[in-house]
Amino acid sequence: MIDNTLPLTDLHRHLDGNIRARTILELGQQYNIALPGNTPETLLPHVQVTSNEPDLVSFLTKLDWGVKVLASLEACRRVAFENVEDAARQGLHYVELRFSPGYMAMNHNLPLAGVVEAVIDGVCAGCRQYGVQAQLIGIMSRTFGEAACQAELNALLTRRENIIALDLAGDERGFPGELFRDHFRTARDAGWHITVHAGEAAGPESIWQAIRQLGAERIGHGVRATDDPALMDYLAREKIGIESCLTSNIQTSTVAGLHQHPLRTFLDHGVPATLNSDDPAVQGVDIIHEYQVAAPQAGLSPAHIRQAQINGLEMAFLTPAEKQAIR
Ligand code: HPA
Ligand code: ZN
Repeated sequence: MIDNTLPLTDLHRHLDGNIRARTILELGQQYNIALPGNTPETLLPHVQVTSNEPDLVSFLTKLDWGVKVLASLEACRRVAFENVEDAARQGLHYVELRFSPGYMAMNHNLPLAGVVEAVIDGVCAGCRQYGVQAQLIGIMSRTFGEAACQAELNALLTRRENIIALDLAGDERGFPGELFRDHFRTARDAGWHITVHAGEAAGPESIWQAIRQLGAERIGHGVRATDDPALMDYLAREKIGIESCLTSNIQTSTVAGLHQHPLRTFLDHGVPATLNSDDPAVQGVDIIHEYQVAAPQAGLSPAHIRQAQINGLEMAFLTPAEKQAIR
């Protein structure tokens, strides 16, 4: 159960993985883009997971229709705005929204820095309208290689004061973290926090790389940390946050079933693990479902769930004073 006396946060949500089916339809019509369905019912199976995918890379193809309709900067702005609207409707007090400018730009050759600006604009407008607090994490899509990631980083740096952290997402197995050491050094020099998708499609060595070579303070998913006792101790001792996304991990076949999910083990071990959504529109779930349905199925007691909620504020990329203000 969600504790209504505590702030509700979501620290791991892709705004380009959370585009409403209705918005995809409307943008498709507006920009004359052929879609695999022209009603919500016929489109939905193409943009939402209907049964678990065999692996992360096939899961990620489900996000592709959402960005295919981003034919203008105004479309990017709309999607960013609607993400804040969704967060408000779900009762979130604070959300960290992440996005890959290169992924959003690629189908219609949008200018990368323009995408960054449009997303910031949309999120700021949403925050003003709904009173939700949101911050943005820039993503480099590792699947497109080091040069494309450098272009994403350069675009994000044009608005460095509006971005709180840098992340690396996409094909973890094909593109290990060590390829991106220079990118993350630049990000740290810019004063950004660091979070990295690791230990999702690859093993604990990928998490070590994210921490030691990229400077990660939090890890996206990190499920494979349980394979390495020394890493588990390190995460607890150094207070490295784990951004758990329960339904996502089942749908990518990262974890066989919720009852085998390691979130409970993380919490029992003192690892500051948090509960988040990932790509809610694609997954067909929201953060409330993750707390109320998925977490109990993953074996979390009410005390575990409360601890995950507390960790959500503790591990947020906010200053102590900012956390105090949300409390
Ligand atoms: N892993 C890696 N990349 C992603 C994910 C994920 O779970 N979701 C969206 N991009
Ligand atoms: Zn993710």
